[in-house]
Amino acid sequence: MRIRPRRNRQSTFVRDLVRENQVNAEDLVMPYFLVPGEGRRLPVKSMPGIERLSLDLLLTELRELVPLGLRAIAPFPAIDDAKKDAFARESLNPDNLYLHAIRAIKKEFPELVIFADVAMDPYSSDGHDGLVRDGQILNDETLPILAAMAVEMARAGADFVAPSDMMDGRVACIRDALDAAGFTQTGIMSYCAKYASAFYGPFRDALDSAPRSGDKKTYQMDPANRREARRELALDVAEGADMVMVKPGLPYLDIVADLAAHSDVPVTVYNVSGEYAMVKAAAANGWIDEKRVIAESLLAFKRAGASLIFSYHTAAWLRGK
Ligand code: PBG
Repeated sequence: MRIRPRRNRQSTFVRDLVRENQVNAEDLVMPYFLVPGEGRRLPVKSMPGIERLSLDLLLTELRELVPLGLRAIAPFPAIDDAKKDAFARESLNPDNLYLHAIRAIKKEFPELVIFADVAMDPYSSDGHDGLVRDGQILNDETLPILAAMAVEMARAGADFVAPSDMMDGRVACIRDALDAAGFTQTGIMSYCAKYASAFYGPFRDALDSAPRSGDKKTYQMDPANRREARRELALDVAEGADMVMVKPGLPYLDIVADLAAHSDVPVTVYNVSGEYAMVKAAAANGWIDEKRVIAESLLAFKRAGASLIFSYHTAAWLRGK
């Protein structure tokens, strides 16, 4: 045998030298669930280790994690039911929980990158990402609402707005609105290939944001489809997206690899709530080695071609580095 691949695996030092991918703190984005009030820390039952935090406690956590290398966060608001309506009007209130928090975070951590989620569901009494009429999710009528939300987020200091709604044409509409309002430097990270997935269950529990009726299959993608993701990619990039996302993560690495191969903009991936819950449940039972499984999962995203990884494991990963 002249060719022996094992030579390149013979010792830790050799393996270190030939390693093709690695995960760095700069690759990770920590999602946060934000609740109103002060001093509030509410565990998410289906996501052990993750708590919904009030702004003061979120700031306390950031004071710990930014020095450990945290570069970016993706906050999501839990809105009181009484403030929800069909038009998600609360999302445009400049003093709402979310916009207030973005301003406060930016004030203390001007360099920390904030990805602000653009979608109606946290504010919608229907629990859908778009406007609902007679059981239909209206596309074009939703766009101005999303664009107005995005402008307010930019005004509050968000670095990137991140439309997670999957309405057609929203990237262009948001880009035009941002530019018209003078926010030419605010980026758009589009949830480009977002699938109608059962892996979002714990997230919807955390924010009480599940659709009140029906499902999200008329806007989020069919998990059976692969080529369709490239169609979404072409549209979002043509409409002005600065980054594109694939979501969920681990079950969709083929899509991450496809978009990484065909995209000229950075590809991000969302290691979603249900993926997190499965790892934590197996680890709690002693069935897997949690730290190694997390490291291997994050590495798999990099290997597939992701530049950035949104993961609830980020905080623990930074602490355990
Ligand atoms: C909704 C949104 C969802 C997630 C991020 N933004 C859920 C959904 O589409 O119902 C899911 C994230 C996760 O599961 O971790 N705009």
